[in-house]
Amino acid sequence: MNRREFARTVAVLGVGSAFSSAVFARDKKHKPVATPADIGLETQMPFTGADSLRVHGATVGLPVGCAVVPERVDLSGEQAGGSGDLYTRTVKEQAAIVVAENAMKWSSLRPSIDTYDFAATDKLFACAQQFSQLVRGHNLCWHEQLPKWFATTATRQNARILLTDHIQTVAGRYAGRVHSWDVVNEAVHIPDGRPDCLRKSPWLELLGPGYIEQAFQSAAKADPQARLTYNDYDIELDTAEQVAKRGQVLMLIRRLHARGVPIHAVGIQSHLQANGPQPGAGLVQFIRDVAALGLEVYITELDVNTHSLEGGPDVQDQAVAAVYKGYLSLVLPEPNVKAVLTWGISDAHTWLNESKQPWALRPDGARQRPLPFNDNYAPAPAFYAMRNAFDYSRMPVVPNDITAPPPSQQPAGDPYAPFTVPGSPGAPQSPPHSI
Ligand code: G3I
Repeated sequence: MNRREFARTVAVLGVGSAFSSAVFARDKKHKPVATPADIGLETQMPFTGADSLRVHGATVGLPVGCAVVPERVDLSGEQAGGSGDLYTRTVKEQAAIVVAENAMKWSSLRPSIDTYDFAATDKLFACAQQFSQLVRGHNLCWHEQLPKWFATTATRQNARILLTDHIQTVAGRYAGRVHSWDVVNEAVHIPDGRPDCLRKSPWLELLGPGYIEQAFQSAAKADPQARLTYNDYDIELDTAEQVAKRGQVLMLIRRLHARGVPIHAVGIQSHLQANGPQPGAGLVQFIRDVAALGLEVYITELDVNTHSLEGGPDVQDQAVAAVYKGYLSLVLPEPNVKAVLTWGISDAHTWLNESKQPWALRPDGARQRPLPFNDNYAPAPAFYAMRNAFDYSRMPVVPNDITAPPPSQQPAGDPYAPFTVPGSPGAPQSPPHSI
């Protein structure tokens, strides 16, 4: 057994085995689901248990997962011994980390100014516990998806207390159980024309630019254990527009960091396009610039849009897989990239098939295929591209690895400072070993 196989065996033992005799149930709120035989799952190459995304990610020390809709998860079926619902089964099998696609946004949590509805988010945490998953929080402060009452009720006088109370209540409720919070989402928007390039969001209009710092300070107070994250989109490419935005995001992060604001990570959303320019050296440099501040990077909302790609399902699938492959092989070698989440798990449920916007609709009327599992919950070429990228772009993590330097030799302080790689010229000789 080689080092990678050994690591995978260790990882799978911690995750549980594949579904063997799942009872295929009916998703009451949604449509009845097919049996594995109906959709040919039994003829696929293995993709669960040791062959799943979560185990391949775990093997290289990377939490891998997806955005979920908690209402869709058949938790009671799972608690009764195992749901056969395909959505539930796929999320459970494939994700080591989950994030609510919409359930944690203000519009979902705040039916009125003085009430909270935690039904869906409590369920998210219950599911994550049942499936041994980490949870990301998305999000505490955003210009979109504010409740209807916000526009008529929020004022310059009450906005600060509204924001800080919300963060205290929501992040406080789940304190100690959140891997990372998207504290502020999408605050940079150059077209708004401000010298600081911040978005003219309701929060900025009400509170000024200090709202960002205020949100991070409140989140740190409410949940001192969560990794506090700034999350944004259109910062992946080396096009003029995205280079400019990425530069402004970096300036914002540096400003916050220099002022001692508790910020620990940057989320790169990664809504990519199947055709056109692809991410390159500029993104890698950005990730390294973020690392130089001691911050982590999470790939938070990965998917691939094929709205303008001509061709049938196979053409789409191959193009999407190629983007996953190129992107993950570009970013995963960077050691401060610490999590990868896709924005959904199956093409059956993706914002790109739910939106009627021109940037989501294909001229041929076909559905988009942006995710690792297709409409039938069978693994798509993107699934294999992801898995291969985990296997080949990172070194396996072996518990108690005797090749790792002892703790006293680990570099103190800056976690990303260069250190001697065991086995390299000049490194102390490791004892001979075999696994
Ligand atoms: O809940 C209502 C439902 O009651 C109503 O019947 C239905 C009719 O349209 O709308 C439902 O709300 C929709 C909601 O998704 C839940 O499906 C909203 O209209 C729709 O705008 C909302 O879209 C979400 C969007 O964020 C805006 O919040 C997408 O699902 C979600 O994928 C998307 O996620 C964002 C991230 O949060 C931030 N980064 C970009 C990403 C993609 O836009």
